[in-house]
Amino acid sequence: MRIEKKTKTAAETEALGARLAPGLRAGSIIFLHGELGAGKTTLVRGLLRALGHQAAVKSPTYTLVEPYFLPAHAIFHFDLYRLKDPEELEFLGLRDYLHAQGVCLIEWPERGQGFLPPADVDVFIDSIDDARIARFEAHSDNGRALLNSLE
Ligand SMILES: Nc1ncnc2c1ncn2[C@@H]1O[C@H](COP(=O)(O)OP(=O)(O)OP(=O)(O)O)[C@@H](O)[C@H]1O
Ligand SMILES: [Mg+2]
Repeated sequence: MRIEKKTKTAAETEALGARLAPGLRAGSIIFLHGELGAGKTTLVRGLLRALGHQAAVKSPTYTLVEPYFLPAHAIFHFDLYRLKDPEELEFLGLRDYLHAQGVCLIEWPERGQGFLPPADVDVFIDSIDDARIARFEAHSDNGRALLNSLE
């Protein structure tokens, strides 16, 4: 299952992220692909806001992961851009995050190749000036549930 959505502003990308909220299932793993500045964190910000998170959403560039314990779900937001070696994921406690039955949103999953479980959904974001095309690909029932909330 595949869905493509176009946004014209960062606010629209946040709104698209918000629409993912009702379709989230415990334990889902979502990979976010795209160049620097593609809008991965912007999409996550909209999703976190929709789940009731009011404070800032920072990019976990140096901490690699930022947890959010929200009423509906625990959300673990990863940014693996600065991961030097996928083996570092062991030290980061990846296993604990996966067992916590939260939702893992993972930017730069390519950097963790071989140490990450398969994704329920891959999101690919392409940019053309301020426009963004987000392509969602589901690979499981959890993933299809998420995409259904976008339709
Ligand atoms: N349509 C759009 N959707 C999303 N962001 C947009 C859009 N138009 C412009 N922008 C801008 O693009 C930038 C996206 O930044 P963001 O941090 O979300 O990217 P990212 O993919 O997480 O990058 P990184 O790999 O560095 O973490 C922001 O400055 C945002 O304001
Ligand atoms: Mg980011």
